[in-house]
Amino acid sequence: MIIHDQIRLRPIEREDLPRFVQWFNDPEVTKGLVLTTGFSLAEEESWFEAMLKRPPEEHPLAIDVHQDDTWIHIGSCGFNKIDWRNRKGELGIAIGNKAFWDRGFGTQIMRMLLELGFGTYNLERVFLRVYANNPRAIRTYEKVGFVLEGRLRRARYYQGQYYDEIIMSVLRSEWFSRKEQ
Ligand SMILES: CC(C)(COP(=O)(O)OP(=O)(O)OC[C@H]1O[C@@H](n2cnc3c(N)ncnc32)[C@H](O)[C@@H]1OP(=O)(O)O)[C@@H](O)C(=O)NCCC(=O)NCCS
Repeated sequence: MIIHDQIRLRPIEREDLPRFVQWFNDPEVTKGLVLTTGFSLAEEESWFEAMLKRPPEEHPLAIDVHQDDTWIHIGSCGFNKIDWRNRKGELGIAIGNKAFWDRGFGTQIMRMLLELGFGTYNLERVFLRVYANNPRAIRTYEKVGFVLEGRLRRARYYQGQYYDEIIMSVLRSEWFSRKEQ
């Protein structure tokens, strides 16, 4: 478990799954995600079983926020895939509870994940993919030091329109020099 101020990142429990079903069937949330038509509870359960068989570093983490003396589960995040030979990892994040958007949590969580990637997993490069029609996410990533690396042109088709898929990354040296400042 990783705790910083009001935020706690912890392993996902089976009891969390109904909340994922609720969030991942909300078009406002899935607009920026790969999935489009949502998940049933049965699909979430089978995803959960498959996830447990993956390496522990690639298990997504539940995001909890401490508010009014209780921890509230608001989403999930983590490394989707780590390539240990080349020391690079791909990050993902989804705050499903929209009441917690635009309050700085995403920014703080990304910092915690970068610290995990560089400070604990000893990665050289952390990257992510984001669709061009997700300016909130792009702004969040820029705030913690992700830079534009490339665009896969017209790679995402969503509700009748094509959007670019943007690749952003932070290098180890950039993260540590940013931390020193
Ligand atoms: C993307 C996400 C992780 C961001 O987390 P968050 O807690 O809402 O973000 P923060 O509050 O830390 O920062 C949001 C920033 O975007 C800005 N922003 C919000 N809407 C914006 C818009 N339409 N255009 C430009 N910037 C916008 C905010 O003003 C803030 O920047 P500021 O601090 O400079 O004012 C979260 O909203 C989320 O999970 N969304 C749904 C799923 C998703 O899209 N995941 C990302 C997939 S790549």
